[in-house]
Amino acid sequence: MQPSTTVDLNAKIPNNVGLADDPKLRRALEKWLPSYLEWWNDMGPTDFADKPVFLRTAISVDSSGWAHYDHIKMPDYRWGIFLNPRKEGESVVRCGDDAGKPAWQEVPGEHRNALRRIIVTQADTEPASVEQQRLLGHIAPSLYDLRNLFQVNVEEGRHLWAMVYLLHKYFGRDGRDEADELLERRSGDPDKPRILGAFNQPCDHWLSFFAFTMFTDRDGKYQLAALAESGFEPLARSTEFMLTEEAHHLFVGHTGMQRIIQRSAQLEKIDPNGDVRNQGGIDFDLIQRTINYWFTYSLDLFGGEISNNAADFFGAGLKGRYREFRQYDEHRALRGSYSLPVVDGSKLVDRDVPLRNAMNEILRDEYIKDCEKALRKWNQTLEQEGSDRRITLPSRRFHRHQGIYAGHFFDPQGNLITEEQYEQNKHRWLLVPEDNDYLLSIMKPVYEPGKFANWIAAPRRGIEGNKLEFEYVKLHD
Ligand SMILES: [Fe+2]
Ligand SMILES: [Fe+2]
Repeated sequence: MQPSTTVDLNAKIPNNVGLADDPKLRRALEKWLPSYLEWWNDMGPTDFADKPVFLRTAISVDSSGWAHYDHIKMPDYRWGIFLNPRKEGESVVRCGDDAGKPAWQEVPGEHRNALRRIIVTQADTEPASVEQQRLLGHIAPSLYDLRNLFQVNVEEGRHLWAMVYLLHKYFGRDGRDEADELLERRSGDPDKPRILGAFNQPCDHWLSFFAFTMFTDRDGKYQLAALAESGFEPLARSTEFMLTEEAHHLFVGHTGMQRIIQRSAQLEKIDPNGDVRNQGGIDFDLIQRTINYWFTYSLDLFGGEISNNAADFFGAGLKGRYREFRQYDEHRALRGSYSLPVVDGSKLVDRDVPLRNAMNEILRDEYIKDCEKALRKWNQTLEQEGSDRRITLPSRRFHRHQGIYAGHFFDPQGNLITEEQYEQNKHRWLLVPEDNDYLLSIMKPVYEPGKFANWIAAPRRGIEGNKLEFEYVKLHD
């Protein structure tokens, strides 16, 4: 089916994929809908279901004006299925052995298992993050932030819909079973955990929430971007539209961290001893430990540095490099190599890896560059506030649970150290339980319009041209 930019908003499930003309699929999805809503009620944000939230809803896939803003209750949000249109000449396999051939509109039999695994893995992260964030509304630093949290939550729910549509439409019985299981796994549950590590870590407070949306959602951006280059066109067009929503999640994370850093610099100035905690703020060491923690868990999500899977996915045209179609001239990547340091006994030595086997690392490079840019912005904020403190990103080898550095010990600068040295210092490098206790002690809800908690600066502007005093969530009707 060729893309339409018109969205059927009157349908039970808003969509631009012609559900009205596919009764079998429509019925299957309408059957999945109540299970989804049950999951949302059980595992989505607690206790705010009857409060109108100033949410944006996708109403079109046009790049201009795809979003509509209004106060609605979260359970009434219109979770829909939207695919980006694709222009003439762009419907090609974009990487690997078949680069340049027509893109697939159906799942090629030989790639069926790999594609299903890719889609399920991506899909699983969406409800997982909603589960991780479900209690945060109770300690929101402002109505503005509360609204942003809920916006992220409903859109992660919509991303689940985007992936479930693909499973239902293209993977038959197996796909329907997978869709059901997506509602059965639970973040952090020892018996039925979510698939990926970062999505089972607790996100108990807003410092972790902002670090999560900054670093873990940003991994999502790069995974979605790689899938937007897929030869399986329905997947590419779904993920392309998801990226437009994802940009807001990254904004929430980036500016949330920035506002905390700014406020901490102000409190440092106010305090006679420069003691941020003494002023009820978040000290820079704690901010740094949080960044170290979430950045490294997010690095794991890219998979192994040297990976046959990555080579297979690229070679098969299932997953491209970042902006493969626009940024590269040569899409086969059969020649050339990638050099990276590997552990050899007690030292690091450089090793050349065939390019295709380094595709995870090449994507991770793009991600790290993006994170470094954000860090530069935050350090500019510190400079503007007159603070001497600076925030850094740890080495990509530090605190890893996946890939060639897992099982070895590194300091945040990336030097190989002994396990003993690591154990002695990790409380200085990573979040510890006392950090959570402290953060929860200062995070009390601030629900008065226009007011912000003491530990975070106000944002520069409100949402959709509204003032900061705007009632972004109506708690009293
Ligand atoms: Fe998402
Ligand atoms: Fe996201």
